[in-house]
Amino acid sequence: MKTIIYLFLVHYFIISALAETNEITEKNETKLDDENVEIEKPTKLNIKYYYETHCPYCRNFETDHFREIIEKLHDYLDIQTYPYGNVNRLHLPNDTFEYVCQHGPDECYGNKLHACALDLIKNQTAALLFNNCMMDKSQENKGSDDKAADKCASNMGYDSNGIKECALGEKGIELFKYYGEETSKAKIRGVPNIWINGSKYIRSDDVMEDICEYFVNPIPPCE
Ligand SMILES: *[C@@H]1O[C@H](CO)[C@@H](O)[C@H](O)[C@H]1NC(C)=O
Ligand SMILES: *[C@@H]1O[C@H](CO)[C@@H](O)[C@H](O)[C@H]1NC(C)=O
Ligand SMILES: *[C@@H]1O[C@H](CO)[C@@H](O)[C@H](O)[C@H]1NC(C)=O
Ligand SMILES: *[C@@H]1O[C@H](CO)[C@@H](O)[C@H](O)[C@H]1NC(C)=O
Repeated sequence: MKTIIYLFLVHYFIISALAETNEITEKNETKLDDENVEIEKPTKLNIKYYYETHCPYCRNFETDHFREIIEKLHDYLDIQTYPYGNVNRLHLPNDTFEYVCQHGPDECYGNKLHACALDLIKNQTAALLFNNCMMDKSQENKGSDDKAADKCASNMGYDSNGIKECALGEKGIELFKYYGEETSKAKIRGVPNIWINGSKYIRSDDVMEDICEYFVNPIPPCE
């Protein structure tokens, strides 16, 4: 209770201080207000999610559970996603590498689209929702292709061109390698592979409920 009062006071003084400067418009005040509210929230629970774009189990997880988790719990979670999965890195005689994705070259491209979206869409929740949309079971073929990118971007009011250009170019390769290194550091076996607060999550029927149980003081979306 003391903490709440304290934060309320801090909040109040910051807003009064800002009001006095007279320079801040209502819009900017709202923004600062939002940032302040975040401070009052409990420490975020860390979620790491390793996947590859064309794996059917990953697409099921995204469609049936992950979207709801992002939408309802994003304020309480620190979510990191790693679009890479099972890639065979072949060392070629000329000392270069060839990356062979489990479901073929289209999957490598899909993984790059995801990596580029995470890089280019600065609002992280929106980036996660964009990738989730490209993975959705309703997307044709295996999803996470140019068509899915166009569709999801236009639904969300984004332009997909930058993301596609990135995925086709050097930046896409660089990001792909980065996620490859992170995935190999984690020594995961199989995808989807989910870690909650540093421990491997053994999937049950209700992932949302399992995540909620981590919060000792129940958070509103879980009640
Ligand atoms: C908000 O503040 C920034 C500077 O911090 C300013 O550039 C911008 O114009 C302001 N926005 C509005 C809507 O007044
Ligand atoms: C290395 O070899 C591979 C396959 O033999 C070839 O596709 C690639 O272009 C070569 N890379 C360079 C830098 O020569
Ligand atoms: C970020 O994106 C989410 C989902 O689209 C949206 O609800 C939220 O308002 C956005 N945040 C900011 C600061 O724009
Ligand atoms: C996360 O794990 C640490 C120990 O590894 C523990 O102290 C902490 O309470 C955990 N946080 C949550 C929200 O479960």
